[in-house]
Amino acid sequence: MKETGNIFLIGFMGCGKSTVAAKMNQMYGMQVVEMDQMIEEQQKMRIPDIFEQYGEKYFRDLESDLLKKLQSASNQVVSCGGGVVLREQNVAEMKKNGRIVLLTAKPENILKRVRGNDNRPILKGKKNVQDITELMETRREKYEAAADLIVSTDDKPVQDICIEILQKIKRIED
Ligand code: S3P
Repeated sequence: MKETGNIFLIGFMGCGKSTVAAKMNQMYGMQVVEMDQMIEEQQKMRIPDIFEQYGEKYFRDLESDLLKKLQSASNQVVSCGGGVVLREQNVAEMKKNGRIVLLTAKPENILKRVRGNDNRPILKGKKNVQDITELMETRREKYEAAADLIVSTDDKPVQDICIEILQKIKRIED
């Protein structure tokens, strides 16, 4: 990885972005940026309330603005919202100063991770394997096209996932 670069973790809700980002901080001292959390702090509102009161487009605009701002820092691991790839401009922004790492997981595992909370408006009424599979399919092409590298998070210790990410980044940069 370029000394100054960032790592952008992308992928479907519940694929492990936040968990992996926290471990990258622990293992390698990289600064963590949690996009969803930053947006909630800036807006002083929870994401479901932002969606409900202002709509999805408003949230996506906040996401795009935040990504632009993140370009000024380096050596960060950015845990992106699952929908950042929906806009090509966001992908272009991430590519300017970072590597895009797609984390993947089986729908069954996604369901286990998202089942217990209500903070994802996109999954409202869709917390079942079939709906998650369908939604993943509609996004798959965008995730894969954006990714510099892909790492599965199924059945692996998070530490191994972090090691794999850095190994794969090194491989493409050598
Ligand atoms: C979204 C994913 C969420 C959050 C918002 C929309 C999506 O982030 O940004 O609820 O469209 O996939 P996580 O992937 O961190 O859950």
